[in-house]
Amino acid sequence: MISEIKNLIRSAINPISGKPESEECRVKDVFEAEGDIVIKYDREGLSPSQKRVFEDNILCAIKDKVPEDKISFSSVSKDSGDVYKSLKSSGKSPDNEAPKSNEAPKSNENATLNVGHGKPAPKKGIPNVKKVIAVASGKGGVGKSTVSVNLALSLKKLNKKVGLLDADIYGPSLPILLGKRGEKPKANDKKKIIPLEAHGLKFMSFGLFIKEGEPVIWRGPMLGGVLNQFLFDVDWGELDYLIIDLPPGTGDVQLSMIQSVSVDGSIIVSTPQDVALLDAVKGFNMFTQVKTPVLGMIENMSYFICSDCGASHDIFGNGGVKAEVEKLETNLLGQVPLDIKVRLGSDKGEPYMAFNFNEEDEISKSYMAIAKNVDKILFESKENKKGFFGKLFGK
Ligand SMILES: Nc1ncnc2c1ncn2[C@@H]1O[C@H](COP(=O)(O)OP(=O)(O)OP(=O)(O)O)[C@@H](O)[C@H]1O
Ligand SMILES: [Mg+2]
Repeated sequence: MISEIKNLIRSAINPISGKPESEECRVKDVFEAEGDIVIKYDREGLSPSQKRVFEDNILCAIKDKVPEDKISFSSVSKDSGDVYKSLKSSGKSPDNEAPKSNEAPKSNENATLNVGHGKPAPKKGIPNVKKVIAVASGKGGVGKSTVSVNLALSLKKLNKKVGLLDADIYGPSLPILLGKRGEKPKANDKKKIIPLEAHGLKFMSFGLFIKEGEPVIWRGPMLGGVLNQFLFDVDWGELDYLIIDLPPGTGDVQLSMIQSVSVDGSIIVSTPQDVALLDAVKGFNMFTQVKTPVLGMIENMSYFICSDCGASHDIFGNGGVKAEVEKLETNLLGQVPLDIKVRLGSDKGEPYMAFNFNEEDEISKSYMAIAKNVDKILFESKENKKGFFGKLFGK
């Protein structure tokens, strides 16, 4: 049994380094203790979130052989010796380590079970980042990533310092949209990841760590570990805004993110047709349920202006998002027309607002209006903000 487990661990590929354990040799011992399988490994040079990813990866590799609640990790380092951690008793974060004691805790309180999504760790802000915005949608392909990039560039035109985080771990697209395919991020001397820069924006994406076309087969907790690293182990420097481009829907990544970082406001992107709107409402409800303010909705591919006749065509219908926004009592942050130049620019890594900006055209006008709306909502006076958020949660 132990030798089978060791073999499985040896072939597990650490998603951070991309190397199999047989090359990394972090695992020092695997043994049985009190009915548990204990995996002893060297934690030297790993940040807390990297440790989480490392452990999750091993769990994933051996979970068919050993039930998760029978696996424990013991991390060792040169300085501090062994830290024994039982998944059963202390939760998974080594930073929550509580010394083992044979004495039963004395308390008059009734025991309670943490069910559902578990008890979230306290949310953290990102040092030197003033506002965190999440761009979400219920449905895929409505233009979240395109909106995230062009909104970031528009905020930059308002002289803001902006960073972009691609949280779409299963389908990262920012390296392509920003023209940085195949580039690899470096670490600084404090072991923080240095974000790449494109068109004056700092950005980070999981796509920079994997080969294009390689599937990502990860469980929820592993996603959480990587996201945490992107939020807190990247040297973002001073930013007015960090914009997080989320994957579509209301799944693990969204919840992990909301639970670990204080999001100042989310933006829901939708196209005007009914199917997209139905899902957009789900996205809206998810954020309000977890008490994350929704800044408003953006209607993307709102209408199409024919370059030949100059007429405006409502390809995906008309007024859908506006009507929904009124029902939900939120804001319509703006409407972005459908334009082939947006798509072509994205495909070439030359985003519209960096290469085609022109104060007179409809796309530029709509993106600048959205950026000003967002900036006004997030940086307006405390008094007004109270009123604004009061309206959001006052229902
Ligand atoms: N306003 C627009 N005009 C023309 N094309 C657009 C517009 N907005 C987005 N697109 C195009 O639509 C496609 C989908 O956009 P994008 O990848 O941004 O969507 P997404 O919501 O992030 O998708 P996913 O859910 O897969 O992450 C892309 O080809 C993009 O170039
Ligand atoms: Mg996307």
